[in-house]
Amino acid sequence: MPLRNGEPARTPIASLFPNWRSSGKAALLMAGLLLGSAGTALAQSAPAADADLIAKGRYLATAADCAACHTAPHGGVPFAGGYGIDSPLGKIVSTNITPSKANGIGSYSEADFARAVRDGVAKDGTHLYPAMPYTAYAKMSDADLKAIYAYLMHEVKPAESTPPKTALPFPFSIRASMAVWNLLFLDTTPFKPDPSKPADWNRGAYLAEALAHCSTCHTPRNLFMAEDHGQSLGGGSLGAWYAPNITSDRTAGIGGWSDDELIAYLRTGHVAGKAQAAGPMAEAVENSLQHLNDADLKALVVYLRGTRPIAGETKPRYDFGKASVAELTLRGLPGEAPNENGFRVFSGTCAACHQLNGQGNSAYPSLFNNTATGAGNADNLIATVLFGVRRTVGDKTAFMPGFGPGAFYTDRLSDQDIADVSNYVLAHYGNPALKVTAADVAKAREGGEKPLLAKLAPYALPGAVAVVIVLLLFIGLLRLSRGARPAAPGAASPSSH
Ligand code: HEC
Ligand code: HEC
Ligand code: HEC
Repeated sequence: MPLRNGEPARTPIASLFPNWRSSGKAALLMAGLLLGSAGTALAQSAPAADADLIAKGRYLATAADCAACHTAPHGGVPFAGGYGIDSPLGKIVSTNITPSKANGIGSYSEADFARAVRDGVAKDGTHLYPAMPYTAYAKMSDADLKAIYAYLMHEVKPAESTPPKTALPFPFSIRASMAVWNLLFLDTTPFKPDPSKPADWNRGAYLAEALAHCSTCHTPRNLFMAEDHGQSLGGGSLGAWYAPNITSDRTAGIGGWSDDELIAYLRTGHVAGKAQAAGPMAEAVENSLQHLNDADLKALVVYLRGTRPIAGETKPRYDFGKASVAELTLRGLPGEAPNENGFRVFSGTCAACHQLNGQGNSAYPSLFNNTATGAGNADNLIATVLFGVRRTVGDKTAFMPGFGPGAFYTDRLSDQDIADVSNYVLAHYGNPALKVTAADVAKAREGGEKPLLAKLAPYALPGAVAVVIVLLLFIGLLRLSRGARPAAPGAASPSSH
């Protein structure tokens, strides 16, 4: 049955009984009995296939993490928008995608919805910013899009509120400029299974590239903040956080992890003696990955194993450091001043949980054999100390308080304290080649290094615009001279939207 848009009798009622929905026919029967003639109408407009479609859509929307961005933090109404995503260009606020006609996407047809999710163009024709990961969703199949649409329209409760409007500084406020950006960087070819690869590899590729959008975080970006596909999954900066290289490379990537470790990390965000998920990865695990079924998690791992290795660090991130207590080494390495303040902060602030020798215990991770301290940059170490860790999986929450701006006044550490404690941790438990300065910490507090494009804006607006236009033209010409994007071999009809 074709989906009808905004069935008034059905949507609100259905959303009152989210759990009934999942039990398909029985739920409809109950609703029918309860609601008499209204129930008959309800049952007619929602045959069992629809309930299956909605259940499928719920799972896919979770895999694609729609709610994470479209729900305001700290108890916002699900899908009602209002999450301000910190982009280097300013805050981009997610919109209300509940089926409210006045405030949400209640008036979107399935085709309108497909255009927004895959092409990044709202119903009124305005261009979305790629903070909405339509560059990944562009690969989503028609069938999956239909299921997500059915779920949002028929199970999610309409929310009658409009989040604040996104107001980026000029020139980024000109949304039409995204049309040029899309022309250059948006690949609208839907996902095509590779027949030479096994089914689970293809499922993993689809999940990673189209739904779970791993690459939007783990792939570095170019000058125009588009993903650098040549470096796919090679590690990307996310402001204060860093999404590491997760290619199959044995030392720089995840090649040295076992399948079970990778699955445990994706499902729980924690692998003892290796890594924990904090920051944006904690959100991905909490909102999305922990809910994936076994087969899908396995498929993701099969896919990661098959990625093109990208070299980098020459020793695995999880292979640094050992248990050690400070006093003996406090005298410092030859030629170096002792880091007394680092030890003072460590013993006063960190050792209560991570132990004085850094080894942790059953509740708290060790700081050696820990990818946050053995990585090629100290971003995740600094960000963890500033912002802490909070990740709920099932009914368990891993919690470390932050010591930055969000902490109680008395718990706050200065930039110098955080630099000193980081250097102490790196020297004893992590990658001793790294040195953190108070300026690095100050930058992380402000959300990390700004890309060039963002730095240009406030200073030389007209110049920046000119430079951007010239560069865009230049790249456009370059692409023209190389010929249009090559069609995938054996591709059937290219785009269905
Ligand atoms: C990483 C964050 C993020 C994720 C994940 C995300 N969105 Fe969005 N979405 C946004 C932001 C931000 C906007 C507003 C962009 C703008 O104003 O340019 C948006 C806009 C939209 C719009 C346009 C709405 C309108 O008001 O016209 C739709 C539809 C939408 N998202 C649907 C989805 C669906 C469906 C999913 C899951 C498959 C999803 N989004 C996942 C961040 C996200
Ligand atoms: C919203 C951004 C984001 C998304 C989406 C995301 N990641 Fe991550 N990922 C990160 C960050 C940031 C870290 C570092 C977390 C930390 O160390 O606390 C990370 C860490 C990891 C690690 C551990 C690496 C290490 O050496 O510690 C693995 C494995 C991983 N991600 C896999 C994935 C996969 C697979 C996907 C898609 C299914 C994915 N991630 C999606 C941001 C993201
Ligand atoms: C109240 C207990 C507590 C205190 C105090 C504490 N931590 Fe943690 N720390 C944790 C927990 C819990 C985790 C996350 C465990 C998990 O994810 O499973 C964590 C994780 C970490 C990680 C790994 C983060 C990542 O992204 O992988 C680092 C590094 C770290 N802590 C360093 C520190 C430093 C340095 C201090 C002192 C400034 C400190 N911690 C203070 C409890 C604490």
